Amino acid sequence: MKKTSRELLENSSKLTQECQILLKRFSGSLKVIAKGRWPVVEIRLQQLLPQLLPLYLRLYGDRYDCYYHLEQLLKLLARAVVQRPEYLFAEDEMPQQWHKAQSALGSACYVDLFADDFSGLEQRIPYLKQTGINYLHLMPLFKAPEPNSDGGYAVSDYRKTMPHLGSMTELAALMQKLHAEGIRPVLDFVFNHTSDEHRWAEKAKAGDLQFQDYYFFFDEQEREQYAPWLREIFPEIRRGCFTFEPAVGRWVWTTFNSFQWDLNYANPEVFNAMAEEMLFLANQGAAVLRLDALAFVWKEAGTNCENLPKAHTLIQAFNAVARIAAPALQFKSEAIVHPDEVVKYISPEECQLSYNPLLMALLWNSLATRKTRLLTESLQRRFAINPQCSWVNYIRCHDDIGWTFDDNVAWQLGINPDHHRQFLNQFYTGQFAGSFANGVPFQQNPVTGDCRVAGMLASLTGVEQALSNDNNTNLANALARIYLLNSVILSIGGLPLLYMGDELGLLNDYSYQHDPAKKDDSRWVNRVKVSAEQLASAKDKNTLSGKIYEQLQQLIAVRSRFPVLGSGTTEILQSGNPHLFVYRRQLDQHSMLCAVNFSETPQAFTSLPASHWQDVLTAKHFQAPTITLQPYQVLWLIPSN
Ligand code: GLC
Ligand code: GLC
Repeated sequence: MKKTSRELLENSSKLTQECQILLKRFSGSLKVIAKGRWPVVEIRLQQLLPQLLPLYLRLYGDRYDCYYHLEQLLKLLARAVVQRPEYLFAEDEMPQQWHKAQSALGSACYVDLFADDFSGLEQRIPYLKQTGINYLHLMPLFKAPEPNSDGGYAVSDYRKTMPHLGSMTELAALMQKLHAEGIRPVLDFVFNHTSDEHRWAEKAKAGDLQFQDYYFFFDEQEREQYAPWLREIFPEIRRGCFTFEPAVGRWVWTTFNSFQWDLNYANPEVFNAMAEEMLFLANQGAAVLRLDALAFVWKEAGTNCENLPKAHTLIQAFNAVARIAAPALQFKSEAIVHPDEVVKYISPEECQLSYNPLLMALLWNSLATRKTRLLTESLQRRFAINPQCSWVNYIRCHDDIGWTFDDNVAWQLGINPDHHRQFLNQFYTGQFAGSFANGVPFQQNPVTGDCRVAGMLASLTGVEQALSNDNNTNLANALARIYLLNSVILSIGGLPLLYMGDELGLLNDYSYQHDPAKKDDSRWVNRVKVSAEQLASAKDKNTLSGKIYEQLQQLIAVRSRFPVLGSGTTEILQSGNPHLFVYRRQLDQHSMLCAVNFSETPQAFTSLPASHWQDVLTAKHFQAPTITLQPYQVLWLIPSN
């Protein structure tokens, strides 16, 4: 790093001084850009440049042209503030703690699978509201290669949508409408890579050196400085993380599919360009951006290029950009990595929200083993996060289920983590004798033996199998498992996220196997189309969907009566019974004890404090110190007199 940058980073009063000098130097041109909103921009820059500058210096301080790029960045921020629609500009002044409410409830859907297109989605708003949804992740809808775009995660243009969904203007109108209806729209910020059809990639292919520097192009020798340390994410599709690009005559970095080219963030032009795309999406109405594959965004030779310190610096810099130009915008982290790394992305300065893959994986683990020790021990270590931030608790999503728990915790419990992962894969793909699950293997790695699992909630919990065997006892157990899983994500603390179709218990869709563009990606088994008839069955209690939906609605309704289930704190407890999972929520003097039986036999909870309790789910009363939970029973207990 250059001496001057280092001096600034080491001396806070010099840094403050530097910010003042820069603001003075740039304010003339920024004022012209920011027009009537300059007073706001000026205040924000005064507050936040001292945050942004050191981050930018850490990333780019060793470049001779660092300040040039910084100036360009500040200009594009001013432009983005000017372009921000009035309703979002007003929202920018509000505190963004909505994700802490006991009514906060999310859902994720592919627009075409759920409603055909943007106008169809508008017509589904009543269904969303009826279900209690107030956060809606619209899965990638940007212009992308056809027919295969990794489910939209290969973006060819961040400012255009897929034509069959409607236009960007229509999307912006839809998002404004969603806001007005009390539903916060969430979009993906796919910033680790673009598709190989993005205009930057096209220019790189045409030999433009400026744009080749947007990506990583290596000869064989350069590639070997990285390749040996990298994990293979999609080994069934292509071995290694590089793809030979004939037009350039070199290897291009492709962590995921070969048509997804990783962006080179060591180049400040890439940071600025992506900051501009990010603010464009924010200004279309996204309340939250889901930072896709954020663990992979910074690369250094000789490391595994995941979760590097500079990945955090980079995301913090994007966050500082958002605080200046679109303060209402929140970030959600998609780090499906080791639990110790997942939590490092969560802070008000980085991502305010984060998927909780540890809870997700271990809920499935407990259902398979009927034991809760790994769940309890792991969450005792890794559930607490900054109180201004929230977990996004989910049971499954559009992706596979990977077994990302901490091996050390497993070993401490006498569990061999590798063998156990093999067991879980066997169990959830239905190969283990007695398994209730109908999952499909995803990305089996022939070298490491690694594998993940894909499937819809109902298929993984046993509904599919029970229906095909016409077994009512098994069906009742499967429904109890769904209820149990939903109860945990609704009560443990954080924003629960449902995956569209799971609320109706829709089953796996195997038709992807006959579609050439999808057959190599088994995650399509759990991305199913939802029809109008299926949505209508939500209200018909004589249907299976209606029953599953009603059970969920009951949980949602009870939850919304108890603020402790919103912003209360969470303490994961040792229940003394290896089949029970117990946690306490606390808000001021209010507390609630949630207890879940993960087994198919009655289990006693013998260490209940206080003497009288009421289960708010059934209104039944219990007396301490011992309560017996029936198979798969869930209790939400409050002290009673
Ligand atoms: C994220 C997405 C996944 C995609 C990957 C590459 O993990 O959830 O669907 O394959 O990023 O963009
Ligand atoms: C991405 C992929 C997911 C994979 C993970 C590995 O999130 O979507 O499939 O398990 O990366 O980190």
